[in-house]
Amino acid sequence: MAEIGKDIDKAKAILEKGELVAIPTETVYGLAGNALNQDAVAKIFAVKSRPSFDPLILHTSDLERIHEFVSDIPEPLEKLALAFCPGPLTLLLPKKSLVPDLVTSGLETVAVRVPDHPLTQALLASLSFPLAAPSANPFGYISPTKASHVNDQLGKKIEYILDGGDCQVGVESTIVGMEGDEVIVYRLGGLDLRSIESIVGKVEVMAHSSSDPKSPGMLKSHYAPRKPLILGDLDKLVPVYRSKGENIGVLAFRSVYPELLGQFQIQLSPSGDLTEAAKNLFAAMRALDSMDVSVILSEEVPDVGLGKAINDRLRRAAAQEIEE
Ligand code: TXA
Ligand code: MG
Repeated sequence: MAEIGKDIDKAKAILEKGELVAIPTETVYGLAGNALNQDAVAKIFAVKSRPSFDPLILHTSDLERIHEFVSDIPEPLEKLALAFCPGPLTLLLPKKSLVPDLVTSGLETVAVRVPDHPLTQALLASLSFPLAAPSANPFGYISPTKASHVNDQLGKKIEYILDGGDCQVGVESTIVGMEGDEVIVYRLGGLDLRSIESIVGKVEVMAHSSSDPKSPGMLKSHYAPRKPLILGDLDKLVPVYRSKGENIGVLAFRSVYPELLGQFQIQLSPSGDLTEAAKNLFAAMRALDSMDVSVILSEEVPDVGLGKAINDRLRRAAAQEIEE
């Protein structure tokens, strides 16, 4: 298994050799390698079993360094960057040629983000290159929000996991780009739409376009547990699946089901707090997935603020087939 620790110098040395390190961010853990080293980037795709058509996010320590890798920042995106970097925001910007095509899967834009986590900030500041880092999970599975999640799945394939504790946001960054003069949100995430719209006005959300995904990672089955997850009204689903004799696991927003007391049920936030629910979401999905249940029943949360990103992940988890 991988070594888990807080040694930034060790992480730096491994990355400088062209090897990979799992890093904490405020959203989810990333599987990081030198973004300017093709071999390191190729290892990321191999370790994740990720198809090469799904591009990676480039992580830098601060906004200034983004300019080394992109040729232009349109004004609305610059405003967003100034307001929310470091933070759970990823910007799609025209790339400079020094960014390898492997990172962007041949696209002319590169996704860039400044993560807000003290350990990773210190690591990035100490490095002479940016880090390419997708979420540190096998392709198609739930993103990790704890060092142990990474170790469980990728521990045999990487040397070191930089342990930054539990991720505070818990869902991936919001991905924003532009088409013509319009600001487009390609992935709902840890920065909510209201915050974005407070800076740039109304935006269009294209996160569900699965026919021609701008972000190939928008494949519907992303974030899925291995067990089937059924999304609907728990008050109806619970009795139906119990009467079928299924071993059910319940992932609820806040309700407790007394008839299931002592059984497999998790509340994302007993107090009904969406920030807390987002933080707990992936760990709860993993926990239920590893329990002795045959099916996971779940419900949507209120579709406001971070609730939109939570519902997006739940819907993707409920869709079992990969859409091409
Ligand atoms: O919060 C996060 O963003 C985490 C942490 C580790 O930073 N990273 C993350 O990476 O979620 P990943 O690789 O799991 O998701 C990145 C998404 C993918 O859906 C990919 O398709 C999209 O970003 N993406 C990357 N570059 C793109 C580009 N040039 N154009 C469109 N989509 C892009
Ligand atoms: Mg991912």
